[in-house]
Amino acid sequence: MGLSATLLCALLSLFSSLTVSAAVLPVIGTHPFDVATTSTFLTDPERLDLFANDSRARSIMVSSFYPVSACRQNRFMPYMPPATAAFQSEKFAAYGLPNGSFQSLALKTCHASTNSRPCSSKPLPLVLFSGALGTSRLLYSSMLQSVAAAGYLVLSIDHPYDADVVEFLDGTIITGTDISSDAEVELALVTRTDDIAFLHRQMANSSITEKIFPGQLRGHDGQKTAVIGHSLGGAAAAAALLQIPSLRGGLNLDGTMFGPVLTAGLDRPFMLVGHENKTQETDPSWKAVWLNLKGWKKEFEVRGAAHYSFSDLPLVTSILSLQNKLPPGIEQLLGTVEGHRTIEITVAYVTAFLDMVLKSGEDGLLGGGNERFSEVVEVA
Ligand SMILES: *[C@@H]1O[C@H](CO)[C@@H](O)[C@H](O)[C@H]1NC(C)=O
Ligand SMILES: *[C@@H]1O[C@H](CO)[C@@H](O)[C@H](O)[C@H]1NC(C)=O
Ligand SMILES: *[C@@H]1O[C@H](CO)[C@@H](O)[C@H](O)[C@H]1NC(C)=O
Ligand SMILES: *[C@@H]1O[C@H](CO)[C@@H](O)[C@H](O)[C@H]1NC(C)=O
Repeated sequence: MGLSATLLCALLSLFSSLTVSAAVLPVIGTHPFDVATTSTFLTDPERLDLFANDSRARSIMVSSFYPVSACRQNRFMPYMPPATAAFQSEKFAAYGLPNGSFQSLALKTCHASTNSRPCSSKPLPLVLFSGALGTSRLLYSSMLQSVAAAGYLVLSIDHPYDADVVEFLDGTIITGTDISSDAEVELALVTRTDDIAFLHRQMANSSITEKIFPGQLRGHDGQKTAVIGHSLGGAAAAAALLQIPSLRGGLNLDGTMFGPVLTAGLDRPFMLVGHENKTQETDPSWKAVWLNLKGWKKEFEVRGAAHYSFSDLPLVTSILSLQNKLPPGIEQLLGTVEGHRTIEITVAYVTAFLDMVLKSGEDGLLGGGNERFSEVVEVA
């Protein structure tokens, strides 16, 4: 692995209590930058938490990922804080992951307090990310670190009561509530959309951006922002685009669509990326929204992918050398594409979309004639 003896020592002491040996999730893609990360707790005093039933204001946890040039000191940080890692290890034991799996993982990030020099003199574009129902934001950290490395400020959101577990900085834990009826999913979607809108508004407050993206921007103008989501997060991305006129574009990774956007449609760029056989021919909600998308639009299908291909899970199983050791049937969750490759595909298409709507205006990889990713089929 080429780790120096000191780093190895630091890693070993960090993870000394583990049964699985420590493993670092790599940054994947064309990554010119090192990436720093923060975790922050934000409360919206103007909104009650409708899931909590106790008149408390809505609070969310967010992770930021942002590129730094010439990082002076990298550090290995646990992939998840302790209670979340333990929760996920218990949860994924059902899928054959050994106990301790999530505790053994680390991200290599820049120690930002030693280097807060922004990558660029202008604020970089901002990307908001919302994950799947019942899924921690932390299960996307590696993927989002790779997106940030391509030159973006990335914010990923935990939606408490909807996420399986949210661990706040003070140790408070909120576990997910049952969201299954149409009314509950509707409430979750509206809550997510409001969480995204709230977070986007906070980006105009420099005391908040200074905490989330230290030294990177003084009050983001909110103009260069796109929204991405996986699964229900993809539906929330579309709903947020409908609600917030200044968002430049949205990307739905494998999410069935709900809500007003189905009929209202969207006037800005929107992209759909589905796993094998999830297309507008098999998902009526995709067909419905497609007809009402009036801006730039494109739909891709990733052969060999399954629903959780659009998370860190396939990479996690590869890194832990578990990919061919898990119980049969796991491919229905994780697909059949190798983990590094899976993330490489997602990061390439996500950053191609972001580059188009937030940077160059050119469709690049999305324009067709792509030979690097034979797994990806342009559906429409
Ligand atoms: C809030 O109340 C609803 C309806 O009474 C209930 O279904 C839900 O489980 C409650 N949520 C919590 C977090 O207690
Ligand atoms: C997993 O490991 C933790 C810590 O070593 C232990 O407390 C827990 O009981 C284990 N869970 C199972 C299902 O073995
Ligand atoms: C900005 O955020 C800080 C910290 O949460 C808060 O005290 C302040 O009122 C906010 N400023 C504005 C203009 O909303
Ligand atoms: C996708 O559909 C094709 C054609 O019906 C089928 O052969 C293939 O097994 C399906 N793939 C998955 C992952 O279901």
